[in-house]
Amino acid sequence: MTAWPASLRDTRPPRKPAGTAPQGLGATSRRDDWWSSPLGVGFWLAVLVLYSAFSALLWQPLFGAPNEAGPYLSPFLLPFFRDLGLPFGISPAIVTLWIPVGFRITCYYFRRAYYRAYLADPPACAVGEPTIHRGYRMETALPFVLQNLHRLFLYLALVLLTIHWVEVVATFLHDGRLQIGLGSVILLVDTGLLTLYVSSCHSLRHIVGGKLDCFSCSRVNQTRYSAWRRLSGLNQRHMVYAWASLVSIVVADLYIHLLGLGVLSDPQILF
Ligand code: FES
Repeated sequence: MTAWPASLRDTRPPRKPAGTAPQGLGATSRRDDWWSSPLGVGFWLAVLVLYSAFSALLWQPLFGAPNEAGPYLSPFLLPFFRDLGLPFGISPAIVTLWIPVGFRITCYYFRRAYYRAYLADPPACAVGEPTIHRGYRMETALPFVLQNLHRLFLYLALVLLTIHWVEVVATFLHDGRLQIGLGSVILLVDTGLLTLYVSSCHSLRHIVGGKLDCFSCSRVNQTRYSAWRRLSGLNQRHMVYAWASLVSIVVADLYIHLLGLGVLSDPQILF
């Protein structure tokens, strides 16, 4: 390759492209309260995650709270594993908890949330990030390459979701009669929100409508296209469903544990 003569070479230092955030952690030209969002997200995410860990490990050993009450089973548990008899009163939820945890950790929305809140990478749009992240190789090397397991967790989450629906329907039936208890309604809302969260997943959207060159070329492709459009509509609210389903699972679990302890009673109507 021919080298340019020295007189024609541009020796000026490279200029930052327009719009590039100022360098250094927290450096920004923004004048709004950009820090309030990562702060709030980090706080509430920690509260909900810590509660989930508490429920799996400490509810029973510390307070003797059973994981089920009447027809209700904690949404952290699967019915097949309810009687494992683990030592120290550890909840059998621990056996399957890695599935929803893995699904949420690798979720595209939650990645953004905790990258911003806990790694400050970056803390917000147009805000400088720590320079220690310069060796970051995105999701092509350990540990972040594991984020690519999201699709696998999605398949497992779909199995769990199906089991949850069977469980919820069962709570409405009592000796062949319809029974509506507050616990059934709470579990119904929780499973409904979880369904919206899973259905709005970016990965599911890609499975349904991705890798198609022509949407109208066959009946199958047309069906996939219309399903993809519906999922795309849900996908726009993925963040809302992500939070709502996280809060609802904690509320449902808390309600069932308090029922089991006798702190609450479950109002019911029997038809
Ligand atoms: S992207 Fe959030 S659950 Fe799949």
